[in-house]
Amino acid sequence: MREDFPLIWHEGMQSYILSRYQDVERAFKDPVFTSDNYDWQIEPVHGRTILQMGGREHSVRRALVAPAFRGKELQEKFLPIIERNAAELIDAFRKDGSADLVAQFATWFPINVIVDMLGLPREDHQRFHGWYTSIIDFLGNLSQDPEVNERGLRTRAELAAYMIPVIQERRANPGDDLLSTLCTAEIDGESMSDEDIKSFVSLLLAAGGETTDKAIAGVFRNLLGHPEQLAAVRADRDLIPAAFAETLRFTPPVHMIMRQPSADVTVSGGTIEAGKTVTCLIGAANRDADRYAEPDTFNVLREDLTTVNAFSAAADHLAFALGRHFCVGALLARAEIEVGVNQLLDALPDLALAGDVLPEERGVFTRGPGSLHVIFTPR
Ligand code: HEM
Repeated sequence: MREDFPLIWHEGMQSYILSRYQDVERAFKDPVFTSDNYDWQIEPVHGRTILQMGGREHSVRRALVAPAFRGKELQEKFLPIIERNAAELIDAFRKDGSADLVAQFATWFPINVIVDMLGLPREDHQRFHGWYTSIIDFLGNLSQDPEVNERGLRTRAELAAYMIPVIQERRANPGDDLLSTLCTAEIDGESMSDEDIKSFVSLLLAAGGETTDKAIAGVFRNLLGHPEQLAAVRADRDLIPAAFAETLRFTPPVHMIMRQPSADVTVSGGTIEAGKTVTCLIGAANRDADRYAEPDTFNVLREDLTTVNAFSAAADHLAFALGRHFCVGALLARAEIEVGVNQLLDALPDLALAGDVLPEERGVFTRGPGSLHVIFTPR
């Protein structure tokens, strides 16, 4: 498709599909492409979030939440939370000699971090993990299993019943946590309503949970599949950001993203009519030979890649998107991966794949290993 049919109309999906790096990059950056169609995709489970917004509504809402996910706030307040949660999860299996890094680490780590960042009770990690699972099952429910749909919608009601009283309590007694920051943030006299905050927390579980979950599993899957690169990263931990960036390029957790042009646009020689859905294939664009040398090779030492760094969230692969919806949590994700990978490498010095079997990746819109069974000397 990328070479011969860079713009196609897919009847089943009722969507145009873009697969070239330069076209997907354009769809993310050019304001003619809006995110309006997320309303019907994610509204039923999250309510209205910044992902569905454009224009000033988006700029203000985004400016209210973004400072909490970077700089001093991230380094001083949230890094200790990230370190503690990684250590606790690893301590629970390091003496066993084997583990499923997806089920026992990756799916829990980002959710536990978000719950602690929000300043919610740590006993509720399990409850939030349940809601997280229901939400991502709902969003990935291509076969429209009614039970999965019903559970997703029930989660929306349960999360609201839990969050609204806590939000009201934090407004009255703000503390030093992310939820209090969201309750008190104000720009030009505008602030977030209780419903806005509840929907943002719901979005964080999916946008901040599933993605980081699949990214950390992906880093280990890719490194375990390339033992010489695992050895290089183990010996030089400064390579972890590159291993993260190369994983996001090679096996991005979010494989496709939808947009809708607000006017007719010409892309790769064809016309996309205003209002039609456009599916942007991040997975394909990230392996475009016009952009990357040897695109189908996983190589943490490749030179044609910019990593997200501590000072700027700029990355030139498309896994975090680009433009106005560029991932708000990119620096948090990087911090989680750095801590998680470092601690796992320290705790499991001879980490290897169980049975030498590389797990398959699963999923269509979001994609990652369904399990990652490893063995190691118990410590
Ligand atoms: C947006 C990917 C981690 C919060 C996005 C988008 C992508 C993405 C592709 C753009 C969606 C679109 O344009 O439609 C990722 C990946 C991550 C990650 C691959 C991990 C490796 C996180 C984390 C958080 C987070 C840790 C926060 C806890 C958000 C939010 C948005 C977003 C709130 C919406 C931004 C907006 O609409 O302005 N992310 N994300 N993400 N991400 Fe992430």
